[in-house]
Order: sequence, then structure tokens, then C-alpha cells
Amino acid sequence: MHRQGTLRFDRFVDLALYGPGGFFVSGGRGAGRRGDFLTSPEVGPLFGSVVARALDTEWARLGRPDPFVVVEAGAGRGALARAVLGAGPGCASALRYVCVERSARLRRKIEELLPVEPPATVLGLAAAGGADGAGGIDDDDVVVAGTGPSVTVLEDLPAGPVTGVVLANELLDNLAFRLLERADGGWLEVFVGVGAGEGPFTEVLVEAPAATAEVADRLAPRVAAGARVPLQEAAGEWLAGALSVLGAGRLVAIDYADTTASLASRPWRDWVRTYRGHRRGTSPLDHPGDQDLTCEVAVDQLARIRPPDADRSQAEWLGVHGMGQLVAVARSTWHERAPLGDLVALAARSRVGEATALGDPEGLGGFRVLEWVVNQ
Ligand SMILES: C[S@@+](CC[C@H](N)C(=O)[O-])C[C@H]1O[C@@H](n2cnc3c(N)ncnc32)[C@H](O)[C@@H]1O
Repeated sequence: MHRQGTLRFDRFVDLALYGPGGFFVSGGRGAGRRGDFLTSPEVGPLFGSVVARALDTEWARLGRPDPFVVVEAGAGRGALARAVLGAGPGCASALRYVCVERSARLRRKIEELLPVEPPATVLGLAAAGGADGAGGIDDDDVVVAGTGPSVTVLEDLPAGPVTGVVLANELLDNLAFRLLERADGGWLEVFVGVGAGEGPFTEVLVEAPAATAEVADRLAPRVAAGARVPLQEAAGEWLAGALSVLGAGRLVAIDYADTTASLASRPWRDWVRTYRGHRRGTSPLDHPGDQDLTCEVAVDQLARIRPPDADRSQAEWLGVHGMGQLVAVARSTWHERAPLGDLVALAARSRVGEATALGDPEGLGGFRVLEWVVNQ
């Protein structure tokens, strides 16, 4: 066992997704009906309409602040932002919507889809992390109340602190993770080397550093030899950073999730998933850049940063925020207008179908919605 000329698994994942030729850089087709995977915002506008209601609830809870800043991390091509704004939320005149997207290609897509303004106009220079962000307040820093909604795009989280909501739909499963395997005498760590076997890359197992093995033992004690677990350090770092952006408000992260101990009891290829053209892809070591590479999120690892204040299924969360009412209206519109067969009737019928997909307990409805409240 040696690690010369090998990459630790998390580095391999980061390069496969975000490196030159990476899946989100130039490789894959991304989210959407013609893409490689279908996320809740890409199912249709209903998800964004329910999110808009949830944002209004938080805006009211915070005392209707203006500006009310919504930071959407991992915004993709802007489908959720468009649906939220299209739903006409009550908070609109106070709303500053910040799409944070690591991929330059997707940031350009957001600019094509939405009326994007410069960050300093939307957030003020300090919160946008502008050149004089560390300096004193001047006239440019002042965001004029009642002029929302406005939208901006950033590569990284803004400096903050802001009052509002940080949203992340299917971001955490796309962050790099380390991969460990239980052996008889301790833990091994997966590295990736140049293959002598079938594909160009191959796994190299090396003894895990003592501190890492200790962490794995605590997260997944008494597991059988051969069991694997992810170590999601990048997700933890992202959570800590995102919580620090909020002066007051709520962080909402939606993803497929489990606990480390439960992941250890399942075959690892169940929770390390690849996607290509709406189908499950092949081994994560195959075709780096051509397929999406994701890992189910270990909630207990995030809880080491800060335990979530709420953890519910997506189906339940959508219900709490009024999806049932929106669908009841759509259903009656469809019944009334079906004979006309016009666009309003078709949109109503589509909304009913979207609700089924979003609430499906075997699919998107089974995702977890994790919430952290800051300065309640
Ligand atoms: C699975 S996609 C989800 C896109 C969108 N939220 C949706 O639900 O359709 C994950 C997105 O997160 C972006 N991403 C990954 N790491 C990021 C980071 N640290 N900050 C912002 N965006 C990131 C990726 O480029 C990708 O567009």
C-alpha cells in the first residue's frame, strides 16, 4: 500500500466536478429535463412557489426587515431563483436574492435567465465583500429600502452579516468527501491512482491517519470489516461558513441524507452515486468530468458543527409551507378549465403532477430539509 502519485478521494472528487474539464465546468449537462439529473426546482415552478411561502414566513418572523437577503448557494442555472421571484412573494419589495454558484458556466446561465445587478448595488459594498468591505461605511454601502426585488450573482458566499435566509438545494451532496474503509485492525483511506486494471484510475487503500481513524470510530463504532463511510469535511466547512454569513435568520439545506452509522451498514455504491443522462452512472472512478458524482449527506457530521434545529422530510416541509393549498387551487382550476384546454388549464395540470414528484417518499419527497435558526 502506497500513496505516491495518488490523489486522496476528496481531491479526486473535487477535480472530477470542478477541475479543468470537470462535470460542472465543461463536462456534464447539469440539472434539468435535458440534463443529467432532475432536482426539485427543475421539476417545475411549484417548488419555488412553496419556497417563496417559506421565505415570507421567515420574513414575518424576523419582523419584516428591509433588506431581506436570500442567499441561494449552489444556485445552478437559476431555476429556483426564477420560480421564487415568479411567485411574487410578500417580501418582494425588501428582497435581495443572491445566487452563489461556483461554476462560471452556470453563473453565465443565471445572468441569461435573470435581471442580474452588480453585487454592491444589491447588497452594499461591505456585505458583498467588495474591495472596501473591511473599511468604514460610506454612501455606497447603503441599500435603499423598498427597492426590491433585486438579484445578484457571486462565486462565493457574501461576507455578511445579513438578515435573511441561506438556502442550499442539493449542494452538500456535491461537495468533495473523503472515503474510509473499515479493516480488521483499523481504518483505511481510499486514494485514487493511475490504474493497471480495467479503467484509467484505480483505488489505492492506505492506512488512515490516527486522528482520522479516531473520528471514523466515533462516527461509526463497531462496524464490520469492509464497511465504508464518507468524511464530509467540506460540507462541515461550508455549513460553518454559511452560518457565519447570517446575523439573524435561517439556513435551510435540502438533500438526500442519512447518518454515518447507517451509511456504514449500506453498500457504499448506494450512497456514492453517479449520474449521467438521468441514469445512475458507473464507478466514480470512470469518466471523471462526464458524470455527476454525489454522496448522501451524513446529518450527524453536520451536527458536529451545530445540530440542526429542525430535520424533516421534504414532503413534510412542503406540506407545512402550503403545497397542499397550492395544489388544491391548481386541481380546481384544471377541472374548471380542462374543457377549454388553454395554457392556464395546462399549467394547473402540470402543477398537480409536480406535487406528486416533489412529495414522493421514494424520491424527492424523502429528502431531508435541515434548518438552523440564527439569533432566534
Ligand atoms: C446538484 S447542483 C444543484 C443545483 C440547484 N441547486 C438545483 O437544485 O437544481 C449543485 C450545484 O452546486 C454548485 N456548487 C458546488 N460547490 C459550491 C460552492 N462551494 N458554492 C457555490 N456553489 C457550489 C455546483 O456548481 C452545482 O451547480
